[in-house]
Amino acid sequence: MKKYSQILGTGSYLPEKILTNFDLEKIVDTTNEWIVERTGIRRRHIAEKHETALTMGEKAARNAMDAAGITPEEIGMIIVATTTPEKMFPSTACLLQQRFGIAGCPAFDLNSTACAGFMYAFSIADQYIRQGAIKYALVMGSEVMSRIVDWSDRTTCVLFGDGAGAVVLGASNKPGVLSTHLHADGTHKDVLSLDHSIGRPIDVEEELYIKMTGNQLFKLAVNILGDLFDETLEANSMKKSDVDWLVPHQANIRIIQAMAKKLDLPLDRVAITLEDQGNTSSASIPLALDKAVRDGRIQHGNTLLLEGFGGGLAWGSALIKY
Ligand code: ACO
Repeated sequence: MKKYSQILGTGSYLPEKILTNFDLEKIVDTTNEWIVERTGIRRRHIAEKHETALTMGEKAARNAMDAAGITPEEIGMIIVATTTPEKMFPSTACLLQQRFGIAGCPAFDLNSTACAGFMYAFSIADQYIRQGAIKYALVMGSEVMSRIVDWSDRTTCVLFGDGAGAVVLGASNKPGVLSTHLHADGTHKDVLSLDHSIGRPIDVEEELYIKMTGNQLFKLAVNILGDLFDETLEANSMKKSDVDWLVPHQANIRIIQAMAKKLDLPLDRVAITLEDQGNTSSASIPLALDKAVRDGRIQHGNTLLLEGFGGGLAWGSALIKY
């Protein structure tokens, strides 16, 4: 019998501290109107000093395991997507494993796929489950983006937020994850980068922060994601009208609107957290999914299309019978 992986539980964590656009008006030369009109963002959560990818990730993970009704001992693989890991190594995933008091299962971080990280992690876990190698996987995105933005650069600091989202995937004989699709194109390496490397000396202070050519990335994202939707639906012989929910990476409301239009979906069939959370990089997809699952908008039996894109460029999707 064909094996699938299925989403068994979701969880999230957001720091309590909130930074509004009006707060940002006092920090950089910007306005609430510009930010809302150009991005759709009104506020974002910002980690306190003691909060990290590990502490936030642990809370989201425990939340997801509770929702799935499984214990840490049952987890067969932990993957943490993060551009802001606790340490270079050991991985945030290994540190989580230690906190859960479990040992033995593979645990690793995906550090460099930026906002596409969750889709990469999700796809890897899905392959292992479908092959029958593991029964349950904990897949998450956890980010403290506030620590890698230059708070004097208005073109980036208004966009990002902190948080963690997690999913428990489990083996099933019934259709769950129908397909995943991953891509990358290094020719666009300079459109979005954080050039700091622990393996070479820092030349200039700005290497510590995200650099982005926003308008170029915007156009690339719209084209790339349009093609990705076609590929994902064709692989499953499905039509746009078969998709009940779009769960997109939360980078810009105008990109999300363009993607909803591409799928002929009304915006109330799109899981959107951007207004309150900003762009939380690899955490944004599981955070949006968890919100829509917990408030009852996403129901069992719905067909979900998840998509993410980010630095690399790297991008990916999943089509899921929830
Ligand atoms: N407040 C006021 N003005 C601003 C601000 C700001 N915060 N930021 C930029 N501007 C100005 C610019 O300086 C520019 O001024 P100029 O015309 O005098 O030069 C003007 O606004 C227009 O700038 P653009 O960059 O062309 O504005 P755009 O409409 O493209 O919006 C944005 C910028 C929001 C960044 C948009 O391009 C975008 O969302 N791009 C995609 C980002 C994305 O998808 N990221 C996802 C990946 S993130 C990851 O992987 C970590």
